[in-house]
Amino acid sequence: MRTQIAAANWKMNLTLPQAEALLQQLIEAPIQLHEHQQVVLAVPAPYLHRMVQLLNGKPGFQVAAQNCYAQKSGAFTGETSVEMLVSIGVTHVVIGHSERREYFLESNQLLAQKVSIALEYGLTPIFCCGEPLAIREANTQNEWVAKQLQESLYHMSADQLKKVVIAYEPIWAIGTGKTASSEQAQDIHAFIRSQLSHQYGASLAAEIPVLYGGSVKASNAAELFHQTDVDGGLVGGASLQAVEFTAIIQALK
Ligand code: PGA
Repeated sequence: MRTQIAAANWKMNLTLPQAEALLQQLIEAPIQLHEHQQVVLAVPAPYLHRMVQLLNGKPGFQVAAQNCYAQKSGAFTGETSVEMLVSIGVTHVVIGHSERREYFLESNQLLAQKVSIALEYGLTPIFCCGEPLAIREANTQNEWVAKQLQESLYHMSADQLKKVVIAYEPIWAIGTGKTASSEQAQDIHAFIRSQLSHQYGASLAAEIPVLYGGSVKASNAAELFHQTDVDGGLVGGASLQAVEFTAIIQALK
């Protein structure tokens, strides 16, 4: 079975004591992960090292950065390199979240560089794609997402792509309380997989986890996650509450 992932995106929230308390609650929660299931916590940069330490290798739990820089090292004040992330035990990095695209003007081309450098250092990219409302209303979301995949991922070899996780996040569903219906999610996830299959072949496409993001909550997670091509979620708001996020983890296939 494909890897199923419940990924938390804490965004720019929580103080260190609050982050430690939330992590402690998750560590103590009665969560039974199967071998094909993972929990990935994308936490604010200042807490990455502490969260890795507190998890202390807990099976199935990993820590992600919410961003990284596209260059290896050097005079880039304020940025974080993938080598730094790897050196503190971070295993994943969210790349191309719509908030980074919108507020920090990250282009498909820049994201392609970030994906490459993450893979070069053995960090798993959680590559985000998804359309704004106007595109959904014009029913051109497939073309929109296809272009994002093409411009940021298809420069990679099949061996590299194998290590990528994709998160489909319709922008109109992020933080709005509006979720894509499970049918809308399944349709576009199947489309994403068909695009990967066209580019890299069906067996590789069948291995890539494609997560859904956008107002995932305990009450809708099971229905979304049980769609054939939905392999878990990237969860913002609801991941800030231990009880809620625990229920989302438990909804994984
Ligand atoms: P949300 O955020 O769950 O609060 O909609 C999802 C995300 O931005 O990753």
